[in-house]
Amino acid sequence: MADQLPYSEKVMDHFLNPRNCGEIKDADGIGTVGNPICGDVMKMFLKIENNIIVDIKFKTFGCGAAISTSSMVTEMVKGKSIDEALKITNKTVAEALGGLPPIKMHCSVLAEEALRSALKDYYTKQGKPVPFEDKGHTHEGEKCL
Ligand code: FES
Repeated sequence: MADQLPYSEKVMDHFLNPRNCGEIKDADGIGTVGNPICGDVMKMFLKIENNIIVDIKFKTFGCGAAISTSSMVTEMVKGKSIDEALKITNKTVAEALGGLPPIKMHCSVLAEEALRSALKDYYTKQGKPVPFEDKGHTHEGEKCL
């Protein structure tokens, strides 16, 4: 069933025309996160050269807000340094989309988590310590409508 929520034009645009959708076969980092309540899953693929995210793609099985936020986060980090990417939070992604209905804010958490999880995987694959904290979000108690 389609969401009947008041989404901004930008959210609808990214939902209907997602940017950077797909996967990178030889990705340097891959992160998969999910929300156990709604069952939505987001997978993020990164290509990194000299600390710059030169390519990023995603696959999301989820609601409109999950797809829009994954699409937006890929646009926000492409061409940016890892340090800049780590400054991105679910709130900045939601703001870039012109806001999300409060009940859908938690969907944007998946976008932040998927990015951080892929970066963590990148450092692990390089045999380097992960230079940032795992925020360890949980979705317990959140409603996913
Ligand atoms: Fe599950 Fe949006 S992420 S409803």
